[in-house]
Amino acid sequence: MRVLWLLVVLAPLSGAVSVSQRRKVVQSFNVRRNTSSSTTPLQVGNGNFAFGADVTGLQTFQPYAILSTWGWHNFSLPTTVNQTSVEDFTGLEWWTHGRLVTYAQPNPAENDISTWLIQNPQRTNLANVGFTFGTSNVTESNLEQKTQLLDMWSGKLSSSFVYNGSAVAVETWADPESDTAAIIIESELLTTGLGLFLDFPYPDRNKFDAPFVGVWNATSSHSTVLRDASSHSATIQHTMDQNTYFTNVAWEGRAAIAGPADGTHRYFITAETNRLQLTLSFSPEPQTKTGTPQGIASASRDWWLSFWSSGAFIDLSAANSTDATELQRRIITSQYLLAVNSASSNPPQESGLVNNGWYGKFHLEMNLWHTLPFARWGQFPLLWRSLPDLYERFLATSLERAGTQGYAGARWGKMTDPTGRSAPGEINSLLIWQQPHPMYFAETEYRSFPNATTLQRWDGVLAATADFMASFAFLNASTGVYDLGPPMYPVAENTPPNATVNPTFELAYWRFGLDVAARWRARQGRPVPPAWTAVRDGLAPLPVVDGTYAVYEGIPHMWTDRATTSDHPAMAGIFGLLPPPASGPPLDPAVLRATAAKIKAVWPLDESYGWDFALLAMNSLRLGNVAQAADYLLHPVFQFDDAGYPVGGARVPTPYFPNSASLLLAAAMMAGGWDGDEGPHFPAGWAVDVDGFVPAM
Ligand SMILES: *[C@@H]1O[C@H](CO)[C@@H](O)[C@H](O)[C@H]1NC(C)=O
Ligand SMILES: *[C@@H]1O[C@H](CO)[C@@H](O)[C@H](O)[C@H]1NC(C)=O
Ligand SMILES: *[C@@H]1O[C@H](CO)[C@@H](O)[C@H](O)[C@H]1NC(C)=O
Ligand SMILES: *[C@@H]1O[C@H](CO)[C@@H](O)[C@H](O)[C@H]1NC(C)=O
Ligand SMILES: *[C@@H]1O[C@H](CO)[C@@H](O)[C@H](O)[C@H]1NC(C)=O
Ligand SMILES: *[C@@H]1O[C@H](CO)[C@@H](O)[C@H](O)[C@H]1NC(C)=O
Ligand SMILES: *[C@@H]1O[C@H](CO)[C@@H](O)[C@H](O)[C@H]1NC(C)=O
Ligand SMILES: *[C@@H]1O[C@H](CO)[C@@H](O)[C@H](O)[C@H]1NC(C)=O
Ligand SMILES: *[C@@H]1O[C@H](CO)[C@@H](O)[C@H](O)[C@H]1NC(C)=O
Ligand SMILES: *[C@@H]1O[C@H](CO)[C@@H](O)[C@H](O)[C@H]1NC(C)=O
Repeated sequence: MRVLWLLVVLAPLSGAVSVSQRRKVVQSFNVRRNTSSSTTPLQVGNGNFAFGADVTGLQTFQPYAILSTWGWHNFSLPTTVNQTSVEDFTGLEWWTHGRLVTYAQPNPAENDISTWLIQNPQRTNLANVGFTFGTSNVTESNLEQKTQLLDMWSGKLSSSFVYNGSAVAVETWADPESDTAAIIIESELLTTGLGLFLDFPYPDRNKFDAPFVGVWNATSSHSTVLRDASSHSATIQHTMDQNTYFTNVAWEGRAAIAGPADGTHRYFITAETNRLQLTLSFSPEPQTKTGTPQGIASASRDWWLSFWSSGAFIDLSAANSTDATELQRRIITSQYLLAVNSASSNPPQESGLVNNGWYGKFHLEMNLWHTLPFARWGQFPLLWRSLPDLYERFLATSLERAGTQGYAGARWGKMTDPTGRSAPGEINSLLIWQQPHPMYFAETEYRSFPNATTLQRWDGVLAATADFMASFAFLNASTGVYDLGPPMYPVAENTPPNATVNPTFELAYWRFGLDVAARWRARQGRPVPPAWTAVRDGLAPLPVVDGTYAVYEGIPHMWTDRATTSDHPAMAGIFGLLPPPASGPPLDPAVLRATAAKIKAVWPLDESYGWDFALLAMNSLRLGNVAQAADYLLHPVFQFDDAGYPVGGARVPTPYFPNSASLLLAAAMMAGGWDGDEGPHFPAGWAVDVDGFVPAM
């Protein structure tokens, strides 16, 4: 049965990198630890749910989080007069091309409700589970012979240690299909005092709740109750203000659960045999049916086998270069970590399901980085978990956002929660580069699935998106061209919003988006709305200063003032992340080259973070400088820790998954090239095998 199924999965492969070779490569980067990291867990998970473990395979000593797509909490609303409901938030009016437009920005007169809307809802850590040793003074240093192995090929985390002379072995797994962890423990100590605790935290108000999520001492602010206890399972109901979630614990053999201990939310699980196998299943509604621990282990093996053997693959194992090996390590661990942390039905947060950044919310402009790699690496089912459904779910609020501001179409939000509300903020309300993302997603999908289903799936979303883009552009009567902004924030969020007009990247992206929207109509044999074409063809020219592309038109002291050469060097994105323009004037190769050289010379990359390095790498690739592309991807500031987690750095906490995702986009371009130059493009002398890539646009 298993063999037959394998054949079916593998049939479409060209066979350039065999399954056994893929396995060899993946497992050569399996993560080993012998002590807990103070910044990153090792995780098992499925994209919608992840379990972060310390060196014991649980959260015994380091309270890493168990996070989900659906577990969110609201603190109670303010009680301030006239600020008691979300409808009381009105935002601020700013002059916008001669009229007052209301933006969702914190209003000093509405400080309490503004702050509430920024901080709520926040993602909740569902629980912690860890060992109890019969005495409370055991620390990690009391454990001997600690070893841990994360097998990325099967999703199995194996941990073992010796305590008081006896061995303890732990397997930790996540169910690919549900929010369930399976834990299998073997130890003689289980009958003489070794047990498990299960504890529940209360949410925190921290914007960045890292490396741990929630507080454990606010015990009187929330409640838990043990219910439906039977000989083999029990449910713990956890209520935090208006939000209630359920944890089903189910075990095999003779074991029991008790608690909570007085004044705490700590429950204790004890076994009467040397083997304790249990599942912890988390849900927003009570549930009793969960898979068995062995069934989950088997499902995990199958899911990961299918993941690794179906998508695209890069094999650098024959390259005989430490740089190639490090790039391969980053690629493999990023593939694993993005499937665990970012393949969700909502866009992921920058810290995935590891810890909370921006209260656990997600950013729609970052979602291109987060989600596009699934398409570029042939993992479309992971992309389809959220797309295009996400845009359909948020369409109503986005139509309303645009309508209230006097624009047509749908204006996509920025820092968002599952209801589609965009948190108040000056940048949040004025950023625009998230707008053409649906076109990028749709066009990428169409290149792999050029058929009527794809056209139909994205058509409504693209139309509403393009309608806003056309409506937002402002026809400047004195110049006769369509301007973007002011007010607005471009990708580089350090610019003055009331003076920012016609940023290079956004102009190029507007053209790209309107080109795709028009092509979408043409493919269906339907007319293109004249407003889309008029704006596309009338867009302001890309701003050039001294033979280089500027951040935006009229920016003072371009390249000579640090204020103009920090934040993201987005200009590099117009020839790298974006393909050359399909309409309008062609890009000037000399200006592109001069811009790349200037960025390399003056941009303070030591202070850069996130996807800057991969953006510059993609630009270098299209400019024909492969060695420079590899250098950017291996830049000393662009770090990935021992388990492959992308290190945040000075400006954002660890992990910062846009690093991993953008690295995979750049690697896909190295492997599959782009239209007209299909590669592969790896540094000279690197032996490489690539399999399954569609060229980039
Ligand atoms: C623990 O792991 C580190 C890093 O892999 C290694 O250098 C060290 O020798 C290991 N220690 C033991 C006791 O195995
Ligand atoms: C939080 O409150 C907002 C506003 O009432 C509501 O839309 C949202 O559904 C709530 N979220 C949760 C997780 O309770
Ligand atoms: C609350 O709103 C009412 C009606 O708009 C207004 O008359 C009153 O001054 C407001 N009170 C405060 C404290 O802002
Ligand atoms: C932008 O202009 C508006 C008025 O339209 C003003 O209220 C706001 O403070 C200005 N913002 C900045 C950052 O200068
Ligand atoms: C914990 O405390 C008890 C009593 O003080 C002591 O006997 C034991 O050795 C301690 N255990 C550890 C691991 O430190
Ligand atoms: C360690 O094991 C011995 C028996 O081997 C037992 O007597 C002792 O109580 C144990 N100590 C702890 C702290 O569990
Ligand atoms: C919880 O612990 C934190 C950090 O030690 C402390 O600041 C806070 O006051 C404590 N809260 C409660 C309710 O005890
Ligand atoms: C790998 O590279 C090293 C250093 O460049 C060289 O000495 C060695 O011969 C190479 N090995 C193979 C198998 O090419
Ligand atoms: C388009 O391609 C997708 C993916 O292969 C397939 O599911 C769908 O049925 C196709 N639609 C048409 C109309 O062929
Ligand atoms: C039209 O463009 C010119 C030149 O860029 C600029 O100075 C002017 O402010 C723009 N007009 C409006 C109404 O935005």
